[in-house]
Amino acid sequence: MNILFVCLGNICRSPTAEGVFRLRLQQAGVEHCLVDSAGTAGWHEGKAPDSRTCRAARTRGYELGTLRARQFRVEDFQRFDLILAMDRSNLAYLLSLRPRECRAQLDLLLARYGLEIDEVPDPYYGGEQGFEQVLDLIERACDGLLAEVRRAACR
Ligand code: 4NP
Repeated sequence: MNILFVCLGNICRSPTAEGVFRLRLQQAGVEHCLVDSAGTAGWHEGKAPDSRTCRAARTRGYELGTLRARQFRVEDFQRFDLILAMDRSNLAYLLSLRPRECRAQLDLLLARYGLEIDEVPDPYYGGEQGFEQVLDLIERACDGLLAEVRRAACR
């Protein structure tokens, strides 16, 4: 199963999800997944994740420094089976571009795995606590995602 995480800038929330989920897969010994992240906007193309994102992630054991931002492209609808948006605005953007023949599933990361809130709040203009909250939410959702990947592998 190939999974793409999508947020606005691809420097805070979706690279966090990519880093958290990559480590989950590695620890679970799952090797058949392609994992990536992208932004609906291209403002930060080629940049590493935000330094606050990297710092918060590092304290929990996730190394995000080698990731580079990129903008979502229409080809991603073919490359990925599951495209998980961080908020409704990201999802609306993806739905507006989705080709008719698209077979990828599009969903909200938190809603899909039953969290009590369905959007990952954008931490970019806030304080350090926002980056911790992003990690708290994404870690919980990634447990649900790992379970889904394992179920899919058994089918
Ligand atoms: P992200 O956060 O979508 O989680 O990467 C943002 C990053 C940058 C901006 C907004 C949100 N920005 O306005 O540049």
